[in-house]
Amino acid sequence: MPTTKNTTDNAPLQVADPEEARKTPITSEDAVMVTHPRSPRAEQYRTLRNSIVALNPESAPRTVVITSALKGEGKTVTSINLAMALAEMPNTRVLIVDANLHAPGAEEIIGMPRRQGLSELLSGRLSLDQAVRSLSVAGVAILGAGAAPKNPSELLASDRMKIVLSQLKQRFNYVLLDAPEALAISDASLLGAIADGVLLVVRLSTTPRQYVEQTHTMLETLGGNVLGTCVTGVAGD
Ligand SMILES: Nc1ncnc2c1ncn2[C@@H]1O[C@H](COP(=O)(O)OP(=O)(O)OP(=O)(O)O)[C@@H](O)[C@H]1O
Ligand SMILES: [Mg+2]
Repeated sequence: MPTTKNTTDNAPLQVADPEEARKTPITSEDAVMVTHPRSPRAEQYRTLRNSIVALNPESAPRTVVITSALKGEGKTVTSINLAMALAEMPNTRVLIVDANLHAPGAEEIIGMPRRQGLSELLSGRLSLDQAVRSLSVAGVAILGAGAAPKNPSELLASDRMKIVLSQLKQRFNYVLLDAPEALAISDASLLGAIADGVLLVVRLSTTPRQYVEQTHTMLETLGGNVLGTCVTGVAGD
């Protein structure tokens, strides 16, 4: 069943100042690339980055969907840290898009207030310039989810979403789309079909292998290009 986290609060969200987050320090323990940049976990994100970059020898702008079979496997944490690992490369600008319109989580981990974002952008109420906010980490920006829409799947499957992605590819080298869990919600498969690649996050200790295989097959059947898996929850992480 789709989660309702953060969707019960119907207070209208404000338009962001695109510069508001530039001076906000990121302090979450989950953002290991900032808080523990020399840790083994940070190195794992650099290794993941290297594999993704190796699949893109021409350094073309790339859109990558990050999903998992089930809720809570580490998609948002992976998106944020992978973005920072990518932005460590010279001349590389990276955008984190919170495309989990059911349970947005990226702004909270980064330590910034929820603002209008993807949902308002896709419904034509916000411009790209108003929606994208730079972070305090050089080269990284975020497009938050915005208010919970009544029709998330229709918005994400719209022609407008394709246009937004192509506009974002002109501004960023990598656009990482933090999507909902793929088995319960169709949004990840919809996004996978229009993005360049899909990364499957797997919480090794808890997610049954058959769910991972089922998700992998489903994403590819629906037109996604699964680049690989990223394992979370390994002892010692
Ligand atoms: N590599 C990791 N190793 C250990 N724990 C992790 C790792 N990545 C994330 N976590 C933990 O897992 C929990 C869920 O992480 P996160 O919010 O990224 O999951 P999610 O897949 O985005 O969840 P949701 O489906 O609700 O969007 C967090 O408490 C986080 O601290
Ligand atoms: Mg999440």
